[in-house]
Amino acid sequence: MLDARKTAAAGKFESAFGREPQVVAWAPGRVNLIGEHTDYNDGLVLPAALERGIVVAAAERGDGIVRALSERYGGPVEVGRTLGGPRNVELPPWAAYVRAVAREIVGAAPSGPGADLWIGGDLPSAAGLSSSAALVVASALALAEVAGVESPSRNTIGFARMVRLVEHRAGTLCGIMDPLVVLEGRRGCALRIDCRSLEIAEVPLPQDTLLVVCDSGLERALAQSAYNQRRDECEIARGALERLSGRPIRSLRDATRDDLDLLGRAFPGESYRRARHVVEENDRVDRLVDALWRNDREAVGRLMDASHESLRNDFEVSTPELDALVEDARGVPGCWGTRMTGAGFGGCTVSLVDRDAAPAFMERMEESFRARYSRSPRPFASSAGIGARLFQ
Ligand code: GLA
Repeated sequence: MLDARKTAAAGKFESAFGREPQVVAWAPGRVNLIGEHTDYNDGLVLPAALERGIVVAAAERGDGIVRALSERYGGPVEVGRTLGGPRNVELPPWAAYVRAVAREIVGAAPSGPGADLWIGGDLPSAAGLSSSAALVVASALALAEVAGVESPSRNTIGFARMVRLVEHRAGTLCGIMDPLVVLEGRRGCALRIDCRSLEIAEVPLPQDTLLVVCDSGLERALAQSAYNQRRDECEIARGALERLSGRPIRSLRDATRDDLDLLGRAFPGESYRRARHVVEENDRVDRLVDALWRNDREAVGRLMDASHESLRNDFEVSTPELDALVEDARGVPGCWGTRMTGAGFGGCTVSLVDRDAAPAFMERMEESFRARYSRSPRPFASSAGIGARLFQ
């Protein structure tokens, strides 16, 4: 299937730029099964790469200019110059990401040849499925190859940190989960990532299940500032816990149940609820890992439900549309569990569903969401897939 995508991307590059690409890179989107808003608190997460992703085809130019063309958003636009440095013109968000990548990658080769990039793929964008991390990863892989600089993929952690930096510069103070799973995805597996030690362990998903994604619609403008605000709130809770407990608490990962009780007595409001979500969510990650190993459907459903409730009530990042999708999925035959996935404030739900039951499940979700909101949640099913790669 990836080969077919490579051929299609090469064909589209050729019709856009009149020559063959030298390289095609691909990077997947992701869902997170549990462990939400825990990565920037040094906590645990359990994401899986999707089979859908972003493709970037590229070839060098002789004039030191880097241009990008997006199948979805248009172009080509100039995103940088290796000679004389990149220009600081206002760019649409997708192109600004590519410019930031060009600065990181070909900034290291200032007399590099320049490049034409064609960007496409089958991952919905702005839907909370890490399309920005996938775009950054795929364009970095392609640009490095064309510019003849060392591939960033030789150092996964360094690469993941570079992707996170690009996201931070674009205004979202995100954690490390998305780039790590985009780079390290394994077929049929979720990844348990310890975002403090950065240790990654594969957790096979139950046999004959699929991940089903439903899109609630996203309020983008709100998402970025509200996300950063949650980070600040976690920091406030951490500071309060440190003062109350009288011992160093580097991040909410270090808080215990007893610390939470102290916080609840002193400040029973928002700080307490934010901290409680993070502490309990970390705990749920390992309980879900255990439930998946045991093929315990009932426990998987209970834990995904509990995570969603906590994100709705304590962390306050869900929306009525996400809640409706979770409610509608409950009890549909073949569905193990459902919850919102990613940052929230819109975006998608993820459900773990028996493969045989997936088509009927998607139909049911489509019908019930349409009845409430007169639009489609555009459901799709995917196995857990592999991480980013380069085709020569
Ligand atoms: C976004 C961020 C991640 C993570 C999730 C919430 O996807 O990019 O780093 O914080 O939100 O779990």
